Amino acid sequence: MHLSVIGCGYVGLVTGACLAAAGHEVTCTDIDSERIARLNAGVVPIFEPYLDEILTSARKAGQISYTADAGEAIRAGDVIFICVGTPPKVSGEADLSAIEHVARQIAEEARFPKLVVEKSTVPAGTGLALQRALIAYSGGSKNFFRVASNPEFLREGNAVEDFFHPDRIVVGVEDESAAADLREIYRPILERRFHCPLHDGMCPPGHNAAFLVTTINSAELIKHASNSFLALKISYANVIADLCEKIGANVEEVTHAMGLDPRIGTQFLRAGLGFGGFGFPKDVQAFIHLAGSVGVDFDILKATERVNKQRIDVFLEKVRKALWVIKGKQVAVLGLAFKAKTDDIRSAPALEVVKRLLEEGAIVHASDPEAIPRTKALLPEVTYHDDPYEALKGADAALVFTESDIFRTLNWERAKSLMARGLVIDGRNLYSPQKMRELGLEYYSFGRE
Ligand code: UGA
Repeated sequence: MHLSVIGCGYVGLVTGACLAAAGHEVTCTDIDSERIARLNAGVVPIFEPYLDEILTSARKAGQISYTADAGEAIRAGDVIFICVGTPPKVSGEADLSAIEHVARQIAEEARFPKLVVEKSTVPAGTGLALQRALIAYSGGSKNFFRVASNPEFLREGNAVEDFFHPDRIVVGVEDESAAADLREIYRPILERRFHCPLHDGMCPPGHNAAFLVTTINSAELIKHASNSFLALKISYANVIADLCEKIGANVEEVTHAMGLDPRIGTQFLRAGLGFGGFGFPKDVQAFIHLAGSVGVDFDILKATERVNKQRIDVFLEKVRKALWVIKGKQVAVLGLAFKAKTDDIRSAPALEVVKRLLEEGAIVHASDPEAIPRTKALLPEVTYHDDPYEALKGADAALVFTESDIFRTLNWERAKSLMARGLVIDGRNLYSPQKMRELGLEYYSFGRE
């Protein structure tokens, strides 16, 4: 089977690259012809660990090609993965216009039967609407297009690892043959029989991925339900952190002990600035909207969203309390992306805080290992430094936004000697309060004394 991928964003590029590395022939297309030109010139437009190497070797081996002509990609593929964006509308509802546009293109360009796989995150019901659209736009028969939902569970910064070694692969289908085709496509990954570029060719030992066949509606719901539940866990931990501060307890002691109960689990209970990125904020909104549209009030998700939005104010309150007057103060911002190991600044807490501090007259110097080029265009008032110690020179306060290794392992003794005032406000609970205070730093974090 020849595979085509429509949309060369984070999901599309990782999917195309990894399926090519697993032995398939893949054609990728994108509406952004400049992006395709860059890919054809060997330039990967996003930062994602290992992606560059995998795309380079797949191209050399002739496993992957790029075209700006969507028709060409559609005609080439037996199976077409739709990986286009579904950004939120003002109402929170997912904007499905890109999916609709692609459906029309597929219907017009297909010359032989296709399996159309929706990988974009969409509200339940979209796959069935897609199927109706394909039939309507092609004027064709019901059997010409089969539709499946195959949600991704990739974390930015870990996407390649997650693709090659997933916990589960979910396929929502209408008929057995679509499930069989998708099982065949994922066979190298399910059987761990591919040259794993992350671990010297060999997949690390571990449990095998579950291959789950569901209805299309269930598969779509699984994605939204999973992301929303993880977001809910984070907001829960953040409220516990606020409580710990008021009562005088340590949030890490509390969440660690909670998490050891396997029914709860230790992950996604890290308190701090809350969740950002392009996944959780939009998916929580879209899920609330979807539930509302069928008369279900998803109150706990509304609270999840509310708690998360408040994290910025909670953090700014800490900054104001420590600095008193913001105007004229120099702050060092450590981390701009929404988390470590990515250059993605969409819904990044750092950007929101920086904007507010600039409005209040702060002088901002910032450092981030990956996200400076993307942020520069948005916030030209900030002075950027590749070296975090340069950003800290003369600062009245250091604000920590991501858990990048470069910040985690920062030499705070040296940093303090460079700063005007040894004040650190840590949005990710990266450091030990005791050790920071032993170094003579004034240190604030979330839910810890
Ligand atoms: C998330 C999911 O983890 C993926 O499974 C999913 O495929 C993806 O969204 C998506 O649908 O787009 P991602 O947004 O890349 O992945 O990042 P995460 O590592 O999940 O972190 C999300 C946000 O939550 C970050 O801002 C992170 O700093 C924050 N977070 C995470 C916390 O505040 N506390 C935690 O304990 C964990």
